[in-house]
Amino acid sequence: MDTVLLSDNEADLIKAAEFIKNGNIVGIPTETVYGLGADASNEEAVRKVFEAKGRPADNPLIVHLADFSQASEYTSFIPELAFKLADKFCPGPLTIVLPKNDRIPMITSGGLDTVGIRVPSHKVMHRIIELSGRPIAAPSANTSGYPSPTSAAHVMRDMNGKISAVVDGGSSEFGVESTVIAIESENTARILRPGCITKEMLEQVCSEVIIDHAILHELEAGQKAASPGMKYKHYSPKADIIMVESDLEKFISYVGEHNGEGVYSLIFNSDSEVFPYRNMTYGKDSSEQAHLLFQRLRELDDAGAKKVYVRAPETSGVGLAVYNRLIRAAGFEVIRI
Ligand code: TXA
Ligand code: MG
Repeated sequence: MDTVLLSDNEADLIKAAEFIKNGNIVGIPTETVYGLGADASNEEAVRKVFEAKGRPADNPLIVHLADFSQASEYTSFIPELAFKLADKFCPGPLTIVLPKNDRIPMITSGGLDTVGIRVPSHKVMHRIIELSGRPIAAPSANTSGYPSPTSAAHVMRDMNGKISAVVDGGSSEFGVESTVIAIESENTARILRPGCITKEMLEQVCSEVIIDHAILHELEAGQKAASPGMKYKHYSPKADIIMVESDLEKFISYVGEHNGEGVYSLIFNSDSEVFPYRNMTYGKDSSEQAHLLFQRLRELDDAGAKKVYVRAPETSGVGLAVYNRLIRAAGFEVIRI
């Protein structure tokens, strides 16, 4: 199949929406990362998404809507807290897990009786949802296990020949995927995947916000994941990623002792003046780290990195999202000095 590269003008967005209405798959920009969009209510289209990504069938897809008011069409119940959260954070990088109804096929929800609902703020994604008139299922547009794409070129790399089109909407604003939450009780939310809507932001609406244990810790054998995505190795380039929690001085001496062919370090901007070994920088603060992380992981592969020592980010605010992606990319290999 030829994968067409579309631009973000109206005529091309109409083409993208037509592809989706006809049961085809399109790479679409969102404010978080690029998604592989398909009609969420079309089982055959959704099957093609799983196939293109090589994604395990039990890992559910998020359903994207033009407005949160449409959530009632695809769910059986919406708690008051979900409405309050949507009022504050939708459209934007938040996904709320709700009990689904029959209009969402089991293949879309990975066999679960819930569905993650998200209302993206990116104009291109929003317009394609409107033009298609469909709920759009969209996982990140990477090959399963590989870092999520934050540009149309990344999507083309992973998906060329496997999907109908990619819409180029420039580089993704946030760079990490949406915050996924479940409603735990009347005033409590549970974060299943951290993102740019942080715990602190959610606390403006919820009296309690729980960070699920699996966000920072490896699931033990036999332990059930609150979100199936937690089970899988993720975001991982070909290079071996090792996260190092230490101050700069100890980091430098550790890398010095383990330096060799194909060894790179991923460091903070502020480290670069004194850091003496081969490296790439990934930003000055958590938001910039989020924006650059996946791009850097892909660039490290392109540079031929075999082993990458990473300066561990903070675990507060948006830093938690960055840390969560890195610890999974590292297969939970963390060195604490
Ligand atoms: O920002 C995003 O959310 C991007 C863009 C394209 O919208 N999408 C995305 O989708 O990251 P994906 O499929 O790569 O990740 C969805 C995550 C997975 O870890 C999945 O297990 C979890 O959300 N998830 C989806 N539906 C769920 C549900 N019903 N219950 C629990 N977890 C769910
Ligand atoms: Mg993904």
